[in-house]
Amino acid sequence: MNPYQNLWGNPKVGNNCKIGAFVDIGKGVEIGDNCIIQAFVSIPPGWKIGNDVFIGPHACFANDRVPKGDWKIQGGEVKDGAWIGMNASIGAGLTIGENAGVGMGSVVLKDIPDGEVWVGNPARRIKRKVKRQKIEGPFEKRPWEDHLSNSV
Ligand SMILES: CC(C)(COP(=O)(O)OP(=O)(O)OC[C@H]1O[C@@H](n2cnc3c(N)ncnc32)[C@H](O)[C@@H]1OP(=O)(O)O)[C@@H](O)C(=O)NCCC(=O)NCCS
Repeated sequence: MNPYQNLWGNPKVGNNCKIGAFVDIGKGVEIGDNCIIQAFVSIPPGWKIGNDVFIGPHACFANDRVPKGDWKIQGGEVKDGAWIGMNASIGAGLTIGENAGVGMGSVVLKDIPDGEVWVGNPARRIKRKVKRQKIEGPFEKRPWEDHLSNSV
């Protein structure tokens, strides 16, 4: 786990996860095992991330439909084996299906069914079924990680 990240309210992070620098993980968020979450990702309260999930740098998740006014938290779920490309934006209340993929820079406004790859703004399906790719660990440590514990 990189030292430069914000973990609010003791979120649950599973085993063998690699969390990059400047990642913001909100209160009550749950992250499964064997996940890679790259730098500058924002996961606000209400979201649940499964096992073997990859999230590329600068991907962000919304947890409200409207930032001000009639505000209520609406989280979402990224299911096991899914991957999210860099700079993707994922709307509130959505489910990214098991082994599904989101292309880089995409804006996701609908649920993505299991195994499908969606790209673009608004994101649309380009592939129907993709194979699950297991994330193998343990991950190579960077020098500054030697003195850090994996617990939060
Ligand atoms: C989604 C992705 C895997 C598609 O790769 P692919 O299966 O090789 O698909 P193709 O490159 O053949 O593209 C298929 C179509 O989707 C379009 N497309 C692919 N990725 C796209 C994206 N991110 N946004 C918008 N359109 C995209 C292509 O332009 C192409 O359209 P066309 O058929 O009209 O020409 C890849 O583009 C991607 O986004 N990878 C994520 C990379 C990343 O974020 N890595 C982590 C950071 S290190």
